[in-house]
Amino acid sequence: MSRIAVVPGSFDPVTLGHLDVIGRAAGLFDELHVVVVHNPDKSALLPIAQRVALLEQSIAAAGLPQNIVVTSWSVGLLVDYCTDVGASVLIKGIRSQVDVTYETPMAIVNRDLAGVETIFMLPDPAHAHVSSSLVRQVAALGGDVSPYVPRAVAEFLQTPVR
Ligand code: PNS
Repeated sequence: MSRIAVVPGSFDPVTLGHLDVIGRAAGLFDELHVVVVHNPDKSALLPIAQRVALLEQSIAAAGLPQNIVVTSWSVGLLVDYCTDVGASVLIKGIRSQVDVTYETPMAIVNRDLAGVETIFMLPDPAHAHVSSSLVRQVAALGGDVSPYVPRAVAEFLQTPVR
């Protein structure tokens, strides 16, 4: 039986920290689904389809394994997606104790709802301070986001809107 895991997130936009976790997780499972989910608690910068496209470009450019599928999910519970594709594990990147506090209740509820376990993964500490919200703020104010995001994202965010 193949082992399938899901990395969910807003990915608005994908950062180098996300990419690091995705690469590590892809090495541990037969199939890894990277799922863009709308988070109603956050105001979005990019449309979902754009986030998916930037993830695909960034994963390809980084030469990550071919067992990664990028998709989005907007109907119902995240664990419904997991059940649909036969995934029994969710992967969450943990930068600090703040992330543990935020993620722990969701991990327990997802296990209660559908028996889906959550694995917390530690990214390279070099990315511990990087978040999509920080990237959105720096980009909105005209700063250089290239140290924090894949090249495709930096180019996209720094292309002037015509
Ligand atoms: O990148 P983010 O914004 O921290 O990702 C949060 C996300 C999308 C993973 C989280 O909001 C989530 O899991 N949403 C799915 C909705 C759901 O199923 N909720 C009920 C159980 S927690």
